[in-house]
Amino acid sequence: MIAGIAQRIDEDRLWQRLMDLAKFGATSKGGVCRLALSNEEIQARAALLAWAKSIGLKPSVDAAANLFLALEGREPRLPPLLIGSHIDSQPTGGKFDGAYGVLAALEAVHAMSELGDRPRRTIEVVAWMNEEGSRFAPGMMGSAVFTGRRKLADILPVQDRAGSTVETALRCVLDAERDVPRRPLGFPIAGFLEAHIEQGITLEQQGCTAGVVTGIQGKRTFRIEIIGEESHAGTTPRSVRRNALTSAVAVVDALQKAMWDEADTVRFTIGMFEVSPNVPSVVPGKVHFSIDLRHDNAHVIERLGNMIPGICEANRGRCEIAIRELLYDAPLQFPEEMCSRIATAAQRLCISHMRLQSPAGHDARYLHYFCPTGMIFIPCKDGISHNEAESITPADAAAGARILAQTAFELANQ
Ligand code: GLV
Ligand code: MN
Ligand code: MN
Repeated sequence: MIAGIAQRIDEDRLWQRLMDLAKFGATSKGGVCRLALSNEEIQARAALLAWAKSIGLKPSVDAAANLFLALEGREPRLPPLLIGSHIDSQPTGGKFDGAYGVLAALEAVHAMSELGDRPRRTIEVVAWMNEEGSRFAPGMMGSAVFTGRRKLADILPVQDRAGSTVETALRCVLDAERDVPRRPLGFPIAGFLEAHIEQGITLEQQGCTAGVVTGIQGKRTFRIEIIGEESHAGTTPRSVRRNALTSAVAVVDALQKAMWDEADTVRFTIGMFEVSPNVPSVVPGKVHFSIDLRHDNAHVIERLGNMIPGICEANRGRCEIAIRELLYDAPLQFPEEMCSRIATAAQRLCISHMRLQSPAGHDARYLHYFCPTGMIFIPCKDGISHNEAESITPADAAAGARILAQTAFELANQ
């Protein structure tokens, strides 16, 4: 029966859905711009709901706009197994980051429903709200609120660059889905499985079709605001300027040097940098930038992150500086039982696989604190991700969906 489910995975149908979903927010360079809670995402969610209806899944949505599509089990009162990922993207994102995990999950339950043998527990496909965090930071908002890591009330006032709040954007999504039944946040679940593209080069280099993800590296994020004073570019002498940009350049340079490591294991990124008022003839009065710091060793990320405030203070010059830590997630390991179940499923299906740690972040992080959680990776070409050129093969996509379907069916029968 289990092998039957994996055999039933339809590679063409999964690929077609990946291509169809990628039309919502498609960019001219072949990528996707489908920001969290945007109109493009609302349209993509409508497509998911339509597919779910055609398969006979029961939809529901919670107050954080996490979307659930349930294949009812034989004992629907038992806590369900959740499988899925996210469908929001970076502004210059690819077709597969997140979308693959949701559509592989949809394919898995589609295969089960065709086979007509329902698992004991309900299996729900989930699309978590705002994993990427590029419109509303920090990301993984839906999974954080669902698992109680963050309060709904705390995310509602978060603003995007245009000044829209999560509260307003959530209302647009929930209004568009007013016919979808509401679900409480944080209902009990039996476990969570997330399939995802690797976003690195290990599987490709090792010639492996699947990765059994052992854990996720640690991540800290900060927002730094440097406040100087706007003044006239022609009349203000250097000696009295309070130039927020020159202070920011000194701070960034000092941070970059402090985070440099010979082994090249520290991941330090300033991906957002805004200068105000950003015009040629005004000395900049304000700079606002982000820090994304990651490492797989808990002591290293603690030490490096703790150095940031001191380095900022020491290099701010004549400007004021405000440092806000938005997120501190330690490195984590998934339970061995989930890893070995995934590995066993891959082995039985004769799919080459290896264990590896995820340097990228995923909703599975927050689910891990809440219920038994595991992750499956498939290769992506040259490890390119958070880039419109992101690419995978239909065969690898189907192989990952087979492992997901088999592992999910087993877990849901427990
Ligand atoms: C997820 O998108 C991440 O930034 O790791
Ligand atoms: Mn992702
Ligand atoms: Mn991503």
